[in-house]
Amino acid sequence: MNKVVVIMPTFNEAKNIGGMIEKLVDKEFPKIKNAQMHLLVVNDLSKGKDDGTGDIVRQAIKSRKNIHILEDEKRGLGWAYIRGMKYAVKTLHADAVMEMDADGQHPPEFVAPMVQSFLDGADYAIGSRYIPGGSVPKEWPVFRRAVSFFGNLFIRVVLLKPRLHDLTTGFRLTRVEGVLDKIDLDKLMEPSRFAYKVDLLYQSVKSAKKVVEVPLEFRPRVEEASKFSTKEMISTFKVAIILGIKDKQKFFKFGTVGFIGYIVNALGIYFFARLGWAEWMIWAVATELAIISNFTLNNIWTFKAEKITGFIRLINKFVQFNLTSTGALVIQTVVGTLGVNAFGPRYRQILLPFIVVFLILPYNYLMYNLVIWRSWKLPRFFKK
Ligand code: GDD
Ligand code: MN
Repeated sequence: MNKVVVIMPTFNEAKNIGGMIEKLVDKEFPKIKNAQMHLLVVNDLSKGKDDGTGDIVRQAIKSRKNIHILEDEKRGLGWAYIRGMKYAVKTLHADAVMEMDADGQHPPEFVAPMVQSFLDGADYAIGSRYIPGGSVPKEWPVFRRAVSFFGNLFIRVVLLKPRLHDLTTGFRLTRVEGVLDKIDLDKLMEPSRFAYKVDLLYQSVKSAKKVVEVPLEFRPRVEEASKFSTKEMISTFKVAIILGIKDKQKFFKFGTVGFIGYIVNALGIYFFARLGWAEWMIWAVATELAIISNFTLNNIWTFKAEKITGFIRLINKFVQFNLTSTGALVIQTVVGTLGVNAFGPRYRQILLPFIVVFLILPYNYLMYNLVIWRSWKLPRFFKK
């Protein structure tokens, strides 16, 4: 049976943790029949002390077999999850882990649908407040709603994740095999902050084949105050921006390689013409040299993370690469001819850059990422 470990970080949650254990472990877990459910509390201390949270959990452990606790000096929310995730995987042998708040803002009855989506094949389930069925507290003032909504919208745009609706939620499920085990938790960005979750989401969505958003009704906090602050918010945006730029670096390299290819092409034409070659040979050889240059540079630079190696595979992929380049030739010929027919020959030179920028570049980038180097896994997004 699959084992799911709910990781719950606590920092002075004595007023909440007892009730949470009763509702989650005693009432909700038994309802989940086809998964083995465990709760792992990651309690943080301040100068070796807490408000009694740890004692309440240890008391609960005495009469229950599926509760565990880790305790350490406070280093921040990200570190708490890193410790919890490592323990859940290595010691508890979890098949999936969940992230969940202890303060009741993530209602325990929303755990079952998350687990169900995992059992139905989801690699990554996001408890989403911004899809039908999900919500933020009615009590939230307009300002707080706006910050959360626009903050999310901003991260969606920066990370180019238009199909996901909630990128900062603290309620998520991650499959260990193929997703969590691909992530180097020691290298997470901003591990001492809430911002850790943006990096984790970014990396998880990259590896997950099936990403699901499950509605979450985010409740108001009843006891104690939130530990979120403006500092946390700013660092969250910072992480999103850095990740966004990293993503675009690849596109920049791709563009540079394309430009070098153009130079190679032009130089080839120049030299082969001086050698007095037949016209078709000048063009054919110069074009092929550019294709070779593009293939090689993209392989060792742009897509170095997905680098193609081995003689046979290189040959195979190089043939594929030539085929996709032929595709670009077809697009350019067809659209160029149609364009000149429609607007007249005077527009030939104006048409070219438009065709290159709006058709050829996107086409090539798509083919490289999807077919040649396969760096995009095209996650399937589902709503439940
Ligand atoms: N161990 C540990 N260490 N736990 C912490 C720490 C820490 O440094 N800081 C916060 N926590 C625990 C809290 O005790 C609580 O169980 C949970 O993390 C969430 O903290 P809150 O202070 O209640 O955060 P929030 O409600 O303002 O933020 C919620 O919304 C954010 C934005 O959407 C959370 O769900 C966040 O995860 C989410 O990013
Ligand atoms: Mn909270």
